[in-house]
Amino acid sequence: MRTALVRKTPLGTYLGFPHDFMIEAFTILLEIDESAEMLLTFCDGTRTREQILQLLAEESGEPVEAIADGFDEFVEYLVGEGVLEWREEPSYIEPIYNETRPFSLTVALTNACNLQCSFCAVEAGPPLQNELTLDDVVPLVEQIKKLKPTPFAVSGGEPLLKKELVLFMFEELCPVREMSVSIFTNATLVTKDCAQQLYDAGLRLARVSVDGHTEQVHDALRGKGTFRKTIQGINYLRDVGIHVDAAALICRTNYPYLSEIRAFVREIADSYAVTPVYPMGKAIGSDLLLSSEERFKVRLSGFDPERIQAAIIPRDVCIIGLPPYIRADGDIFPCFYMQLPEFKLGNVRENDLCEIYRTDLMQELLGLTLTDIDGCRNCDIRYFCGGACRGSAYRVGKSLRIPDPIDCEVYKALAQKTLEKGDENTREALEKLIASTREMK
Ligand SMILES: C[S@@+](CC[C@H](N)C(=O)[O-])C[C@H]1O[C@@H](n2cnc3c(N)ncnc32)[C@H](O)[C@@H]1O
Ligand code: SF4
Ligand code: SF4
Repeated sequence: MRTALVRKTPLGTYLGFPHDFMIEAFTILLEIDESAEMLLTFCDGTRTREQILQLLAEESGEPVEAIADGFDEFVEYLVGEGVLEWREEPSYIEPIYNETRPFSLTVALTNACNLQCSFCAVEAGPPLQNELTLDDVVPLVEQIKKLKPTPFAVSGGEPLLKKELVLFMFEELCPVREMSVSIFTNATLVTKDCAQQLYDAGLRLARVSVDGHTEQVHDALRGKGTFRKTIQGINYLRDVGIHVDAAALICRTNYPYLSEIRAFVREIADSYAVTPVYPMGKAIGSDLLLSSEERFKVRLSGFDPERIQAAIIPRDVCIIGLPPYIRADGDIFPCFYMQLPEFKLGNVRENDLCEIYRTDLMQELLGLTLTDIDGCRNCDIRYFCGGACRGSAYRVGKSLRIPDPIDCEVYKALAQKTLEKGDENTREALEKLIASTREMK
């Protein structure tokens, strides 16, 4: 099944597994103790229930009968969550993500685009020199099949300009049971036939950008006539049975319509996400960027402002290094936000996806924690925020070891608001987290 992610923080150890829709996020399931972690390590597909129970009994010094009920309950819970499964035949699986391979993965298949969005993070338009071809993608797909990163997504530019490559990847990878496969697209090129081809290739999830609730607002950002085509593309995709996750990007131009856009994307798609623009590519230095206050409002707009309900889980750092990003020319970076020459980890034409995990650079990035970040080290909400995004820290502040200049204030405001307006459980969890953090000083 999907490899579990175990994250250790000074406040405890937490277990998570990948989220289908959010490439850069994972859902934390629960806090676990040492014996639960050990149990997971033994569940590697080669042992029976009895053998694992025996090993746990030896480790804990307790008789098998004393631990069997707890074991069964925990295992069945994880089976229900899709983290474990029962197998008839033994076959090895890596039980816990061990930071030697990608956890999730995004591949841009081209930098060419039929649109010219003024905020485009990848400055799409013309293709890059030396973009990946089928000859490069065939061996890459073989590696991905073995490593099973999930969620896995193709992106661009506009990936449907290279439809043949997209279809080839989906035909190969969608059948891999352990992977959730999706496409990032503006959907303007999705015809009825194209939607059917994508479905026939195995695609069941498309993330479609919708940046306005009206033609006027959307087209102002994405170009004349795009709203109509995108909405039509979404309908074609949904008609054939592909789940559409509408992704709305909020910048200065459409910020005044934040609540209308949220209501609109909720209506037209199967799920949705609303995120603030990030200072990357064309957005850098533009008047499209949002203030901290506006970013806070965008982030908060996902919650009921009078009764914030959220899982409060300690984070020791962001997910740097877990979701590598492969650019259209094959260069590999630690994540989408870290596509900078100094963070190039290799190229898929020369390096395999495990090799990049052995580089000094990747080791340094994976080793970063809050204690390395000057300015976060003594912050009361540091385990709520995790130092936010290391990519932002580097892009804006030119250091991996400073607080995220874009979202530091946003997290502080979110924590404050949650303490004031969180529902009982959320508020108590955050208060407890802050109290434990203070005790550590
Ligand atoms: C680079 S696009 C490629 C896929 C496709 N062309 C599209 O627009 O959906 C992938 C995602 O990045 C988002 N994006 C583009 N520029 C961004 C920026 N400056 N900050 C944050 N997200 C951005 C897009 O809205 C889209 O959801
Ligand atoms: S955001 Fe997407 S649609 Fe817009 S220019 Fe960039 S790649 Fe093209
Ligand atoms: S709120 Fe700011 S100082 Fe505190 S942990 Fe987050 S980035 Fe660091």
